[in-house]
Amino acid sequence: MSTGISIKPIAGSCGAEIAGVDLSMPLDDATFQTVQQAFLDHLVIFFRDQTLSPDQLKTFGRRFGELRVSDQYQPLDGHPEILEIVKEPDATDIVGNLWHCDESFMEKPALGSILYLIDCPEYGGDTMFANQYAAFESLSPGMQEMLSSMRAIYSDGSLQQRNKGRSLKVHPNAASRPSYEAVHPVVRTHVQTGRKSLFVHRPYTIRFEGMTVEESQPLLRFLYAHAARPEFTCRFRWDKGSVALWDNRCAQHYALNDYAGVRRYGHRVTIIGDKPK
Ligand code: SIN
Repeated sequence: MSTGISIKPIAGSCGAEIAGVDLSMPLDDATFQTVQQAFLDHLVIFFRDQTLSPDQLKTFGRRFGELRVSDQYQPLDGHPEILEIVKEPDATDIVGNLWHCDESFMEKPALGSILYLIDCPEYGGDTMFANQYAAFESLSPGMQEMLSSMRAIYSDGSLQQRNKGRSLKVHPNAASRPSYEAVHPVVRTHVQTGRKSLFVHRPYTIRFEGMTVEESQPLLRFLYAHAARPEFTCRFRWDKGSVALWDNRCAQHYALNDYAGVRRYGHRVTIIGDKPK
C-alpha cells in the first residue's frame, strides 16, 4: 500500500527531502516510523511548504525526545524551548557560521535540532551538513584505533564574545553562569544505528583529555578539515516554510553567511540526546 510519502536523497553522503508529510498534524505511528527511519538513514531530512505554529513545532520535536530549554540565547516569548534563529538586515554575523554540532559541551549533547524558516533570502543563507560516520570510516585503521581510545574536553567558552555582530540575543543568565564543560569520547557510537562517528567540533572541542591545548591543536585541526571534506557534505537551499531535522550525533552543520540586507528568521528546537559512549 502506498503511504504517499516520498524520500529523495539530495547528495551521495547525507540529506534527503521528504514530501507527503504535513508536520502541523500529529503524525500517526506509521508515518513517524517512516520519518524516523529516513532521519537515521540520511542524517538530515528536509520538508518543504510547511506552516507550523510554535506549539506544532514543539509537538513534532517531542516525538523524538525531550526538548532543551536553552540558557544560551533568549528564547521566543512564551516558548522557552524555541530559539529564534535570526539575522536582521543590518546584522553582520550569524549563529552557526562554522562547522559544529549543537551543544557538544553539554553532559547530554543534542540528539537532533529542528529548524523551521519563516523568512529567508531569495538566494543565499543555505545550510551545509557533513556526515561524521563517513569522516570516521574514511580514516586509516591506525588513526581509527588511536582516536577510539581518546576523550576530549568540550566547552561553550565565551558566548558573549562569539555573539558580536549577531541579531540573536544572549540569554541574561549566560553572562553570570560558568561555561558548560563536558568530557566525551572522540569517536561515539550511535545508540540507534550502532555506527561509529567522529565527534570533534571546532567551536567547542578545547583539547584531548590528558593533553594540553597546544598538544591537541595539530591533530584537532587535521580532524576539523577532514570532517568537512566536500564528499561528506550536502547543501540545502531553503524556502519560506522549509524544515530541516539533523542528527547532531553523527552530522555537523554550517550556516552560510553569504547574504546581507535581508532578514532570515526561523524557529529552532533542540532535542536532548544521550550521554555519548
Ligand atoms: C544553527 O542551528 O547552527 C543555524 C543553522 C542555520 O541557520 O541554518
